[in-house]
Amino acid sequence: MWKELKAAAEAGRDRSILGLFEADADRAKVFSVTALDLLFDYSKTQIDTATRDMLFALARAADIPARRDAMFTGEKINETEARAVLHTALRNLDGDAVLVDGQDVMPGVYGTLARMEVVANEARGSAITDVVNIGIGGSDLGPAMAYQALSPYRDGPRCHFVSNVDAADIADTLRGCDPETTLFIVASKTFTTIETMTNARTARAWLQDHGVSTDGRFIALSSNAGAASEWGIPPERVLGFEDWVGGRYSLWGPIGLSLMIAIGPQGFRAFLRGGQAMDRHFRAADLHENMPVLLALVGIWHNQGLGHATRAVLPYDNRLSRLPAYFQQLEMESNGKSVAMDGANLPLDSGPVVWGEPGTNGQHAFYQLIHQGTRVIPCEFMVAAEGHESDLRHHHELLIANCLAQSEALMRGRSLEEARARMAAKGLSGDDLERQARHRVFPGNRPSTTLMMPRLTPEVLGQVVALYEHRVFVEGVILGINSFDQWGVELGKELATSLGPVVSGAASAEDKDPSTQALVDYVKRFG
Ligand code: F6P
Repeated sequence: MWKELKAAAEAGRDRSILGLFEADADRAKVFSVTALDLLFDYSKTQIDTATRDMLFALARAADIPARRDAMFTGEKINETEARAVLHTALRNLDGDAVLVDGQDVMPGVYGTLARMEVVANEARGSAITDVVNIGIGGSDLGPAMAYQALSPYRDGPRCHFVSNVDAADIADTLRGCDPETTLFIVASKTFTTIETMTNARTARAWLQDHGVSTDGRFIALSSNAGAASEWGIPPERVLGFEDWVGGRYSLWGPIGLSLMIAIGPQGFRAFLRGGQAMDRHFRAADLHENMPVLLALVGIWHNQGLGHATRAVLPYDNRLSRLPAYFQQLEMESNGKSVAMDGANLPLDSGPVVWGEPGTNGQHAFYQLIHQGTRVIPCEFMVAAEGHESDLRHHHELLIANCLAQSEALMRGRSLEEARARMAAKGLSGDDLERQARHRVFPGNRPSTTLMMPRLTPEVLGQVVALYEHRVFVEGVILGINSFDQWGVELGKELATSLGPVVSGAASAEDKDPSTQALVDYVKRFG
């Protein structure tokens, strides 16, 4: 199968996208899909009908429907950790029973959701003005991203997100908070993560230093209720979740508490409903019309097929400025692996490097390279038809125009002849014209996709996040890897633990390599 992918990529690498449009007047329709509120357009890529058929064959060979059903029905598909993968159960608001080891997990999910609502309503109805979520990775990126994305819906206390062990993060955050009216959420699945526990202790000391009792000022979100209680947070203030919710998929449950406090339980349920609707689409739609499957196949085509190692996520929505970072963890922690499920080396590239910034800001920073650099970077644009600032509609029209202009420019490019004509029109001639014209050439024929949405409501955000979750899952299934473990983060954590005492001077650096020793020596000259 991989041979077919590589052969198709070689044949299709230089295929003219404009030529594909000329050959097929319906291409924009045929190479796009709608699902729920979303439209995904992948017509501005080199994928033609034969390529798409080959990609569908790849998906069929990987038996996506069977793996998908195994995930939704609680099979332990996270084999290296012997866990089910059931973040979808957290948004299964009115669905069937979901069994893990013969037990229906849904009563527990509904019970926790109801407790979250009580806790959120308490915070919303109290004197609390600021909520500080202390967590990192999946215990930070999801709520931080969604809180910002849905700021027009916020009618509760302000939320802040502290993640970095760098004291600058918590110090800068607390400087703007009043100890009398600040609530802390310690969000950590394991309740052992060094950054989170260090920040939580600093938050506790901050309250104490201000003479404020810590009683009732901490909530824990964790699978490790024992550790939370040892830390001093009583069981009634711990919202738990099971090991079948992976960190980077945990926004839908207790880890989403800060979002629920901000936008209210109704808004949070709307977000869950959006995710649930995408689950239903993913489970029911034929492969050919299945939006997560199509996103995944486009990703596989660009990355493993054509060898484009990075993927730019470019939301034309300022409130989605944390979305690229959120997708970065989702994709790179899930699919950044070189060993297949069976322990064999992956015969092709692992998942792509994901990066990005909202438009239009990125246009004035790194788009230069996207348009004229030597590497091709597949771009994933997204934009809503309507913004929330209806009195400033002209801003939104410009935003949309810019988004569409970028994908058009990437596809069309500008030829040397066109560049020459421009220079001639400016009065240049001879060598000068020739030299100047060359700098103004755009190679074009660069692929991009566009995801359109009506408006960024809680429900639509739920659809988008679940869409990308399933896309990453499908990519992982096609690659034959386990998308739900993250062993690659372990070694650095272990070495940081052993280096802590070396940096503080409590242990010697003698068993470290010469480079590390020299770097520690430098620090000691100042510390
Ligand atoms: O180090 C990676 C990681 O384990 C992520 O997968 C996770 O989201 C993050 O750390 C935080 O973990 P925890 O919620 O247990 O503090």
